[in-house]
Amino acid sequence: MDKEFVIAIVGGTGSMGTALALRLAAPGVRVIIGSREREKAKSVVDSLKDKISGGRLEGDTNQDAVKDAEFVVIAVPYEGHAKIIADLKGQLAGKTLIDAVVPLQKGRPFVPPAGSALLEAQTILAGEAPVIGAMHNISALDLQDTKAPLGDVLVCGDGAEAKDKVMEIIRRIGATPYDAGPAGNAYVVEGITGVLIALNRKYKSKHASVKITGIDQH
Ligand SMILES: NC(=O)c1ccc[n+]([C@@H]2O[C@H](COP(=O)([O-])OP(=O)(O)OC[C@H]3O[C@@H](n4cnc5c(N)ncnc54)[C@H](OP(=O)(O)O)[C@@H]3O)[C@@H](O)[C@H]2O)c1
Repeated sequence: MDKEFVIAIVGGTGSMGTALALRLAAPGVRVIIGSREREKAKSVVDSLKDKISGGRLEGDTNQDAVKDAEFVVIAVPYEGHAKIIADLKGQLAGKTLIDAVVPLQKGRPFVPPAGSALLEAQTILAGEAPVIGAMHNISALDLQDTKAPLGDVLVCGDGAEAKDKVMEIIRRIGATPYDAGPAGNAYVVEGITGVLIALNRKYKSKHASVKITGIDQH
């Protein structure tokens, strides 16, 4: 994969977006943080700049953030998911979408009418860009500490080439990706986050994550 790829994070001003931006900027990836408000994106970038050594973070509206990007991460709450994908439709050809969205209602997981957030995005985009699900089960808390060890990342989706590229990005941030199957598996991967939230509540933790064992591939 091109070493100099650009990645936009739609909803990049939130917990997940800022943490992922720090992780990606650490190895020198150019990251554009997207927001519904350009000024908010710029001020979030300013607040993060002293945490990275290079100057590879930028901020813009979601619409403008995706223009230059080869990869577009969707990191908005589920309530805004379908609308944001529909709003971006027409600008995503040639890009790969990385959908990190977990359908949650009051902290509990549910299966949306489309079958999963990933399938919802895929249906809305109708083939304009491959949609790969990833990062659902990793906490922003772990991501934001760029020196903390990361757990495993289950990656699902239908485009083999796109999935390989996303797995490469996940290696780049220091996590271990696993190909967790086709887009049809996304509801399971998204739902695991609901289990992790329950584990956090039960065991008074903040960053439960998944660990795959029994596979000798890395
Ligand atoms: N936090 C985690 O540890 C974590 C872990 C795994 C997966 N996830 C998933 O990642 C996604 C983002 O999580 P988060 O914790 O970062 O969420 P968040 O902080 O609540 O929201 C992220 C950003 O989304 C934008 N946003 C909020 N409501 C929106 C709407 N209705 N339409 C469009 N944009 C909206 C906001 O940015 P602007 O106001 O700047 O537009 C906000 O800063 C969620 O789907 C979550 O399930 C989170």
